[in-house]
Amino acid sequence: MTHVRVSRTRSKTPLAHHHDRALRGELATVKPAIAWETFERERYPEAALELASDLHTRLAIGEYSAVGLFAQITAGLALTGAPLDLIAAATRVASDEIRHAEYCLRMAELCAGTTVELGVDTAAVAASVPAATNLANVDFLMLKYAAVGETLAAALLTECRRRATDHVARALYSSLVSDEVHHARLGWYYFAYRAPLLTLPERQLLTDRIAEFVMELEAEFWIGRDAPESAKNAARALGVLDSPTQQSVLSHVMEGEVVPALDALGLAGSHAWRARRRGQHA
Ligand SMILES: [Fe+2]
Ligand SMILES: [Fe+2]
Repeated sequence: MTHVRVSRTRSKTPLAHHHDRALRGELATVKPAIAWETFERERYPEAALELASDLHTRLAIGEYSAVGLFAQITAGLALTGAPLDLIAAATRVASDEIRHAEYCLRMAELCAGTTVELGVDTAAVAASVPAATNLANVDFLMLKYAAVGETLAAALLTECRRRATDHVARALYSSLVSDEVHHARLGWYYFAYRAPLLTLPERQLLTDRIAEFVMELEAEFWIGRDAPESAKNAARALGVLDSPTQQSVLSHVMEGEVVPALDALGLAGSHAWRARRRGQHA
């Protein structure tokens, strides 16, 4: 790949319209501020605060890792000549993710009552992410991290928001969800554009690669953050998901959204999901 042909093409998805509105300056918005200083740590027992701090530290690590990942995906879209509206939407993801990382880190600190430092295993991130220098890898990264990954993130964070009664935690989850929904859409719109162009070998390779990921999801999300009885309500108020809730959110989003979408793209989602590694009591 030494030359890529670039023209003012659009993806023929709703992102194209969104992109043209952005070019006309119609989409400038200011994100509502989160009232961090109003968080009342003393309202919650230590056991709940510990779980919430752990949750937000984990989230912050994921968000931080997503910055580099989406920067690479954006580079891949540009290197492979994707429609301009898709590239433009991808450029916005990394800037959302660094904001999310900072928000989650801030919430982790509020819950911990002290400063928190993230440990990010960059070698592990690099090892699990193939370089977005060819179309096959760009397809895979968009499918795994944008379409499927962001759909899962949006579903889990939506449940956190539904449970949370703490107003700071709720504002944080609302802010994250409103962005993750756009990231997920970018992934699926990319495939609305790409799916008709996939050759049989490309589709087969993508099917195999995403199956590996899909088959591990249930086991990976099986264990949530289970509070002792005395801290259950407080953990819930902070939006912490226990194991049964996490399991049910995952199976709903997989069976209601992800698997049917993969099937519709001819990527054998049902087949992979049926062959999944089970959590314990299946
Ligand atoms: Fe995010
Ligand atoms: Fe995201």
